[in-house]
Amino acid sequence: AVAAAGSPATVPLALPAPYGSCPYDPPPGYTEAAAEGPVSRAELPDGTPCWLVTGHPEVRAVLADARFSADARTPGFPFLSPGQRQLATARPSFIRMDDPEHARLRRMVAKDFLSRRVRELRPAIEEVVETAVEAMTADGRRAADLVADFALPVPSLVICLMLGVPYEDHALFQSLSRTLLDNTTDPGRAAEAHRELMGYLAGLAERKRRDPGDDILSRLAVRPDLTARETASLGFMLLITGHESTTNMAALSVLALLRRPDQAARLRAEPALVPGAVEELLRYLTIIHLGLGRAATEDVTVGGAAIRAGDGVICMLSTANRQPELFGSADGAAPCPAELDVTRDARRHVAFGHGAHQCLGHTLARVELQIMLETVLRKLPGLRLSVPEERLVFQRDAIVYGLRELPVTW
Ligand code: HEM
Repeated sequence: AVAAAGSPATVPLALPAPYGSCPYDPPPGYTEAAAEGPVSRAELPDGTPCWLVTGHPEVRAVLADARFSADARTPGFPFLSPGQRQLATARPSFIRMDDPEHARLRRMVAKDFLSRRVRELRPAIEEVVETAVEAMTADGRRAADLVADFALPVPSLVICLMLGVPYEDHALFQSLSRTLLDNTTDPGRAAEAHRELMGYLAGLAERKRRDPGDDILSRLAVRPDLTARETASLGFMLLITGHESTTNMAALSVLALLRRPDQAARLRAEPALVPGAVEELLRYLTIIHLGLGRAATEDVTVGGAAIRAGDGVICMLSTANRQPELFGSADGAAPCPAELDVTRDARRHVAFGHGAHQCLGHTLARVELQIMLETVLRKLPGLRLSVPEERLVFQRDAIVYGLRELPVTW
């Protein structure tokens, strides 16, 4: 149980906290907790107490500390829904493992995601993006769903290309991955989706073992030090993490810029600002909006709170990314962190996590987002929403925050 001694004396916040009226701001419950102190008491949906870490230095401290486990089987690991318990305990490869097992598997794919390798992919990514925009605007078309027609196919095609997964199968893995990442999915359905996708990837890996190509899955499939299940589950994790987050980030980024025409105009006039703008959008939107779960394996004091072995901890990236001392100024000289400012130096954000599990695909995601935003701004100067903003549906119940659809015209 969470210790009371030395802990802040606030009423525990029920997790996940509901969104307020603004879909671009973290739920008010988290912001209020952050204002009280960097670590506070919270309660999981099943009534289990846990800790909420909201401060930027404290989030980084927990994520860099090996005494906090990312393995969902560790006693006290916090789950925000039964579906999440199912997905996490099914061990979707190294994202839910601790070192040395985590490091062993991460090393096997780390080279494929190094900045040098990703830079080599730039022309291929540019082509995928250009083709998607051309298809969207073909035959004088003047309207599209920017999620289905652009934000989803681009990263999906890129990760398929890298892994050697036939894009023809995209309908299958895109829908299974949506099911798995939806917090409202019941455990039975989540287990079934997991089995189905693992079966698909195991079959594909077996075909590649016999007839390898020049792709990540082939290289993994022929390794003697990997079991068939390990190969399939590595592919499973890369396929899901490789498209879902970038899709949501791209769609929300375009929307954020449509809401701030001044900022979009600035980027159109000065495309060299786009890489910095991507960092600011990662910070401002923080799409891993429910935070990152860890379980303490030893007693540790963080931000004045006495966390005990067996306590669950949720690291809130969104509040860390709005810490005024880092992303604003008390005297108001810099815009407050709740505002989007594409010229802000946002590089210290933690939208990709921190420590041993820091996002493996961060360079790939950055390059994809830079190319996608630069291309949309350049090719669709008249881009605007084709429905009232109030009609947009945000994925509040998914692990990755995003939009179901983004109807636009130009
Ligand atoms: C891990 C965010 C895109 C692959 C993570 C984590 C975060 C994150 C916060 C840490 C999870 C934790 O500590 O529990 C994002 C965001 C993305 C993005 C915001 C897009 C904007 C990608 C892409 C890939 C990818 C394109 C490509 C395959 C991974 C992998 C891990 C990971 C494999 C696990 C790393 C480990 O456990 O060592 N990501 N990600 N991500 N991400 Fe991403």
